[in-house]
Amino acid sequence: MMRSNPPTLSPDLFDMRPRDIDLGPGVRFLRGFALPDGQALLASLALVTLAAPFRHMVIRGGRRMSVAMTNCGSLGWVADESGYRYDPTDPRTGNPWPEMPDVFCNVAIRAANAADFDGFAPDVCLINRYEAGARMSLHQDRNERDFDQPIVSVSLGLPAVFLWGGSSRTDRPRRILLEHGDVVVWGGPARKTYHGVHRLSAGDHPLTGRFRYNLTFRMAG
Ligand code: SIN
Ligand code: FE2
Repeated sequence: MMRSNPPTLSPDLFDMRPRDIDLGPGVRFLRGFALPDGQALLASLALVTLAAPFRHMVIRGGRRMSVAMTNCGSLGWVADESGYRYDPTDPRTGNPWPEMPDVFCNVAIRAANAADFDGFAPDVCLINRYEAGARMSLHQDRNERDFDQPIVSVSLGLPAVFLWGGSSRTDRPRRILLEHGDVVVWGGPARKTYHGVHRLSAGDHPLTGRFRYNLTFRMAG
């Protein structure tokens, strides 16, 4: 059943919804790029998470992340008391991460190409699940080996406010609304930009209910 009420958005959020947003050199905002594949991506995501369920990782210092995570691909991003790393196996089970579904890989490569990054062959898809109140503080993606390769980030389900900062953690971030199907690709001069996600507002999305999912594709190995 399709529910017709969109999630409630405060008026200032509407100002962040122009079709094209110029976030500077090396970054491309692709509004609605993954929309045609939304249902297929979510169906594959459900299968991946049967084999590798979402979990709240606990980072150094003992803090439990508010975003629940899992991975697919030949490597997965893992946080624990010893730090962050890419690991070929799920530490929960000792099994390899589930294979990256073709629909995941295809969307990621097409988005990278659309943003003028050739030769992108992701070996990791980190899957983030946000519910109301979950957030991701400003960080750089910097555990990958080759910074010439971009990051491809696909948003599904409830909208979220993406925080797009600068090369220093203290640069004041821009606030960009990411909706179901939006894709952001960043690389080159933007590869180490600080970014994060504002605390998710409660909502009910016709395809994902109370959740927002984010697929982050990387070439890590
Ligand atoms: C991340 O930076 O890993 C997540 C970004 C997002 O959820 O949009
Ligand atoms: Fe990130």
